[in-house]
Amino acid sequence: MSYKDQIDLLKLPRHIAVIMDGNGRWAKGKGKLRVFGHHNGVLSVRDVVEGAGELGIEYLTLYTFSAENWSRPKFEVIAIMELLISTLNKEIAKLMKNNVRLNAIGDLNMLPDKCHKELDNAISKTAANTGLVLTLALSYSSRGEIVQAAKKLAAKVQSGELQPADIDEKMFEDNLYTGGMPNPELLIRTSGEYRISNYLLWQIAYAELYFTAKLWPDFRREDLYEAILDFQKRERRFGMTSEQVN
Ligand code: IPE
Ligand code: IPE
Ligand code: MG
Repeated sequence: MSYKDQIDLLKLPRHIAVIMDGNGRWAKGKGKLRVFGHHNGVLSVRDVVEGAGELGIEYLTLYTFSAENWSRPKFEVIAIMELLISTLNKEIAKLMKNNVRLNAIGDLNMLPDKCHKELDNAISKTAANTGLVLTLALSYSSRGEIVQAAKKLAAKVQSGELQPADIDEKMFEDNLYTGGMPNPELLIRTSGEYRISNYLLWQIAYAELYFTAKLWPDFRREDLYEAILDFQKRERRFGMTSEQVN
């Protein structure tokens, strides 16, 4: 039986987050430039987005470019931005066909104008789609996201609109970039690295973590399905005892 056939459709995670890592090493292993890995990573994105939508996943959030990634060599940063522009443009038709709604989180004003425009265009074109919500984390830093939420709330307190005592977890969460989305139940990281790299720190408080040695350009929907199956075998206790949750 394939992984997909073994998945319990009644127990799907609503939201899956992915740290797509290992493009550079994948390319290096083939004697190519790192950028070649990023180009091939797009094929994985396409397949995983389709696979997730087909299964009925509601939210897929992909770590596409971190705030820290701006520190990479200029050549690589420019190549990634150009890849983003051309991919967004090329994929709109497919997103429409698959009923995918595109979304983005991060410090988007940091993106080059052309990239920001292409992103806005794809987001508005797909805004009425009702299937998978595909969120790209771009120029994203989780600590940065938490700080901007704190600033928004502080401004409301200063203007008298809000009392400090009114601030609770729900309100704080609503002021993150991901406000309105459920928290990811499953976080996948490829490439054999066991770290979070400043991704969705608040939101993954109780997520199940799944690490695979596969490099991102080798990851396909079957690998996503394997991760979901692994997720479904786990017991999520949320601080309670096994007896309580069963
Ligand atoms: C992930 O692959 C893509 C981005 C961070 C943009 P990497 O480029 O980090 O590849 P490795 O980890 O160096 O192999
Ligand atoms: C995390 O990967 C960011 C993305 C996948 C976009 P990195 O390759 O930048 O992470 P570190 O620096 O190895 O932790
Ligand atoms: Mg990396």
